[in-house]
Amino acid sequence: MSGGAAVADSDAAMVLAEGVHKRFGALEVLRGIDLSVRRGEVACIIGPSGSGKSTFLRCVNHLEKIDAGRLFADGVLVGYEERGGRLHELHEREVARRRAEIGMVFQHFYLFPHMTVLDNVCSGPLIVKGVPRAEAEARAPAP
Ligand SMILES: Nc1ncnc2c1ncn2[C@@H]1O[C@H](COP(=O)(O)OP(=O)(O)OP(=O)(O)O)[C@@H](O)[C@H]1O
Ligand SMILES: [Mg+2]
Repeated sequence: MSGGAAVADSDAAMVLAEGVHKRFGALEVLRGIDLSVRRGEVACIIGPSGSGKSTFLRCVNHLEKIDAGRLFADGVLVGYEERGGRLHELHEREVARRRAEIGMVFQHFYLFPHMTVLDNVCSGPLIVKGVPRAEAEARAPAP
């Protein structure tokens, strides 16, 4: 997967990718992705199987580490912080904290089969974010 839309300034973008590269060994999957998605904008990433769509999405919440370029979510650098002009990878705890702000439905979405749909939907807010059950259940049916 390569190329992309024009880069906007990071303040306005919810997701901003600048020259993102990702390789698995000899396989270079992402070859310089530039992409900007604004707040409220719906973007579809379309391409053949194996072209790197899921890999890119996994990079957006640092489930994969990028090899070059920069990724921002809501203006915040994903997975790293810049100190003294250099990038330092964040501790896993901080990565997890930031990841909790990013919703992702996995391709193989791994629902808990012993739980109801409502319990599955509420499990993230309840367990990860500590939202009270009544509030999580009230919000669950919203689109
Ligand atoms: N952890 C990994 N280790 C090695 N190779 C990987 C890994 N994850 C993905 N790949 C390879 O990277 C390429 C891109 O995979 P990816 O899953 O991102 O494609 P995709 O566009 O989401 O495909 P699909 O449409 O089938 O979901 C594929 O060749 C895949 O085999
Ligand atoms: Mg995929």
